[in-house]
Amino acid sequence: ARCILIGAPVEEGQRRPGCRMGPAAYRVAGLAEAIGELGHEVDDLGDLSLPTDLPDAPCANPAVHSLPQILGWTDALRDAVDDSLSAGQMPIILGGDHALALGSVAGAAAYAHRQSRPLFLLWLDAHSDFHTPMTTTSGNLHGTPVAYIAGRDGFDAFPPFPQPIPAERICLFGIRSVDPAEHAALLRHDIAINDMRVLDEQGIVAPLRTFLKQVEALQGMLHVSLDVDFLDPAIAPAVGTTVPGGTTFREAHLVMELLHESGLVTSLDLVELNPALDERSRTARLMVDLVASLMGKKVFDRPTRGG
Ligand code: ARG
Ligand code: MN
Ligand code: MN
Ligand code: MN
Repeated sequence: ARCILIGAPVEEGQRRPGCRMGPAAYRVAGLAEAIGELGHEVDDLGDLSLPTDLPDAPCANPAVHSLPQILGWTDALRDAVDDSLSAGQMPIILGGDHALALGSVAGAAAYAHRQSRPLFLLWLDAHSDFHTPMTTTSGNLHGTPVAYIAGRDGFDAFPPFPQPIPAERICLFGIRSVDPAEHAALLRHDIAINDMRVLDEQGIVAPLRTFLKQVEALQGMLHVSLDVDFLDPAIAPAVGTTVPGGTTFREAHLVMELLHESGLVTSLDLVELNPALDERSRTARLMVDLVASLMGKKVFDRPTRGG
């Protein structure tokens, strides 16, 4: 693959400073080198910057903060991801908090729509991020991208989502924190919710394979959005929204290896890394190792049989 790293120092989608240092931390942890060593071409676009002429956007929900900034980032991310897909590249977004996915997935959707290809979304996260700006009580817009992508109402201040992803093409994976308003809305949608109850009983392989088969059957594009809090806080402390009972080191690598073998991933977000909360870069390095597994790094490479 021809990978392009896109720095997205977004931190206005939540309240704790630090996510703006995420792109730098991935570079320091050797992300480009790790991908390059696997034989891929990799370019670094540098960091996007927040447009200076931000829209004046009032919001009916007084809890919501930083809406103009998030609208600005959404525009910038949408264009950057659409442009790199159009250039035949695989965009890897170095976040930045999860609000960046409002734009990155919009860019992938705009491109997929022009290609007449279905876009699928794999959301690797402790949270469902299914609030709208009208239902969030925290006011943190990083809790809203899945709702925007699925075409929920309540995003009047945002540009219409290019081509909302039908519920059956969205897979939430690793979920263990859902607010009441999100729960009520999710019950009305047909989104696959692989919460920890499901993964404990079935393991990660079967539910993931089921989803990947659907992507393959329709020759779809697949956007993967990886939130650091998908991982257990014991192995990935550098995130502002830790939830106990997360994915283990081995499960997370296995998810990445299955994604690699599928050959289906067309774009990737790395979100919510807060280097100010890290311990000697261990979370950044784990995320880099996970990307390496996604890009083809194997424990023991076996020549393909009969090949
Ligand atoms: N549901 C909570 C909220 O709306 C937490 C969202 C966490 N989202 C995230 N991308 N880490 O505030
Ligand atoms: Mn509003
Ligand atoms: Mn998230
Ligand atoms: Mn999360």
